[in-house]
Parts: sequence; structure tokens; C-alpha cells
Amino acid sequence: MKNCVIALLASCLVAFFPRTDGQFTNGISSDPTVFGNVFSYWTKLRSGWDLTRGDRAGSITLPVPENGPITIQPNKSALVIIDMQNFFLHESLGGDPLGRAIVPTTVNLIHAFRAVGMPVIWTNWGLTEFDLVNMPPAFLTGFSRDGTSKTTFGSDMGTVVVPKSDPSVPATSKTQGSNMTIEAGRTLMRGSWNAQPWGALHTEQVNGVAKGTDFYFNKNRLSGMWGPGTPMQTWLQDNSMTTLFFGGVNIDQCVWGTLLDSYYKGYDVILVDDISATTSPASATAMVNYNAALNGWRTNSTDIMGALQKAAKSH
Ligand SMILES: *[C@@H]1O[C@H](CO)[C@@H](O)[C@H](O)[C@H]1NC(C)=O
Ligand SMILES: *[C@@H]1O[C@H](CO)[C@@H](O)[C@H](O)[C@H]1NC(C)=O
Ligand SMILES: *[C@@H]1O[C@H](CO)[C@@H](O)[C@H](O)[C@H]1NC(C)=O
Repeated sequence: MKNCVIALLASCLVAFFPRTDGQFTNGISSDPTVFGNVFSYWTKLRSGWDLTRGDRAGSITLPVPENGPITIQPNKSALVIIDMQNFFLHESLGGDPLGRAIVPTTVNLIHAFRAVGMPVIWTNWGLTEFDLVNMPPAFLTGFSRDGTSKTTFGSDMGTVVVPKSDPSVPATSKTQGSNMTIEAGRTLMRGSWNAQPWGALHTEQVNGVAKGTDFYFNKNRLSGMWGPGTPMQTWLQDNSMTTLFFGGVNIDQCVWGTLLDSYYKGYDVILVDDISATTSPASATAMVNYNAALNGWRTNSTDIMGALQKAAKSH
């Protein structure tokens, strides 16, 4: 009886969503080149993969060296930028120079995504008082700056002096000659200066969100996609996204955590290795590079930018 109901349901779904490619039996592919169910499937091509799930209008093919190329549906694909925040990158807070070095490349890729109408998603640490109450000891310990709980999440980071030209200076800062003294704010709390995107990325994020090309989501763990749901996941579902490109810091921690949870939840995952960095040993990046290519694909911005720029011209 249960099986009959499932079969009936599946055939109704198939009737509602007819597909030209692949054959589906009880909603599951019976075509050896099609992997998945009637709602979510990949088609294996003679060379590479079609990830459009039958929605090929305006699709873009990207050259991926390993197991590619991949054909994506731009309406369902997004670039996810993770943790490129002052806390992790700013010079005055002892941030990572490797993370700062990938910013120009990141900005170029953001512009290329916007030019073809693909959304840019920012997911950053942005804690609330409630998050602090619920924060597990392992995270509080990991983010302590002096080994005590006084300097972990939510602690005041005091003031920092930055050049007036620093694009991440807030309107509330006090002027002091050519420099500005600003409140760094409480560690990784929502709305604080230390939780803002670093340098030029701050302007990119603020303008992109204002224009509606970009979307910003706070997170309260390494992953922006953990647990039964996050604001980012809700947005992806509401907007029928299927395919996610990832970059940011650290490649083996927050980027990897977000990529892995997205993979577990059924999204196509693509690591963009030249817009990702880390302070961890090279072995950590090697593990991510190896596994990202198994979970999905690994590529770089130069390889995808050419295809996107060509698509933007015909847009
Ligand atoms: C998808 O993209 C095409 C352009 O390729 C556009 O015309 C269409 O309106 C988009 N569909 C949705 C649902 O956004
Ligand atoms: C990007 O990947 C291609 C191989 O597909 C490689 O030739 C090129 O050097 C890479 N570029 C960067 C900036 O990593
Ligand atoms: C501005 O700050 C820098 C260090 O960040 C310092 O070397 C310089 O002397 C400061 N300039 C002024 C006018 O305070």
C-alpha cells in the first residue's frame, strides 16, 4: 500500500514536471547517464556534466580541469564568500596577509558573477547575545585570544588606529590627523567593525546588497549551512539555488565547513581555489583540494572568468 502511494505520488510529480532528458521510474532516474531524481539530477555528458536539471535556457559551460567541463544554470548558481572579515584579515588586528592577497581576485570574480546576473552571497560571523548564551565551550576556547574566556566571542576588542583612507572606516570614527581611531567592537558580534568585510570588500558588500545583486547572511558557527537550517539555507531554498561556488577564509575551516554542509544538503559544490586562503599548514589546504574535487569540482577564477565574461557580452 505504502509503495503504491509512493508510486502514485512520483508519477504525479513526473506528470507535473515533465522533463525532456532522462527517464524516471517512480521519480528516480532509470537512464544510466542521469544521476538523481526528477527534481534534482545531473546528466553525464560525453565530456563533463550538465548540472542544469533540464533548465538549459541561458546555461553557461565552464572549463574545469578535472572531471569537467560543467554546464550550469546561472539562475540557480551563486558565489559564496565566507569570513573575509576585519577580524581575520585586518592589518591592525594581526590578520592574515594571504587572505588580504586574494581580495583583488575575489573582487574580479564578484564583478563577473554580477555581470551575468548570478547572485553573490556573503556569509560571515555575526553573533547575537543569544548566540553567546548557546555557544559551546569548544568554540569559546578556540576563539580566545589569551587563553581565558575574557577574550573570546563577545569580548570588547578596544580601539585600533587605521589610515583615514581605509575603506572599512565607519562613519562614527574619531578623526586624528591622517589616521582614525575606531572602536573595533566586540569580537565577531553582529554590526561590529571587526565583523565587517575587510578593505574593498566592505564597499562591495554594502553596495551589492543595496543594489540587490548581493545577499548577506550572518552565521554563528564555522559553517553557514549547519543544523536544520540557517538564514543562508532558507534563502537558497526560497530562490531555487542548486549550484554553489565557494571562496574565502579559512579554506580548511569556515569555507570547508560551509562547502561540506552544502554538499550534505544536496547542493552542487565548486571550490574556487585562488579566492580561498588559510593560516593553517599546507597539509590542510591539500586535504580540502583533494576532497573538494571528489565532492564536486575544484577550479580557479581565471578558468571561470573567461566563460562568464563571454556570457555577459551575450546577456
Ligand atoms: C533565467 O534566466 C533567463 C536568462 O537566461 C531569464 O530570461 C529568465 O527570466 C530567468 N528566469 C528566472 C526564473 O529568473
Ligand atoms: C587555473 O587553472 C588552470 C588549469 O585549469 C591553470 O593552468 C592556471 O595556472 C590556474 N590559474 C591560477 C591563477 O591558479
Ligand atoms: C598613523 O598610523 C601609523 C601606524 O598605523 C603611524 O605610523 C603614523 O605615524 C600615524 N600618523 C599619524 C599622523 O598619527
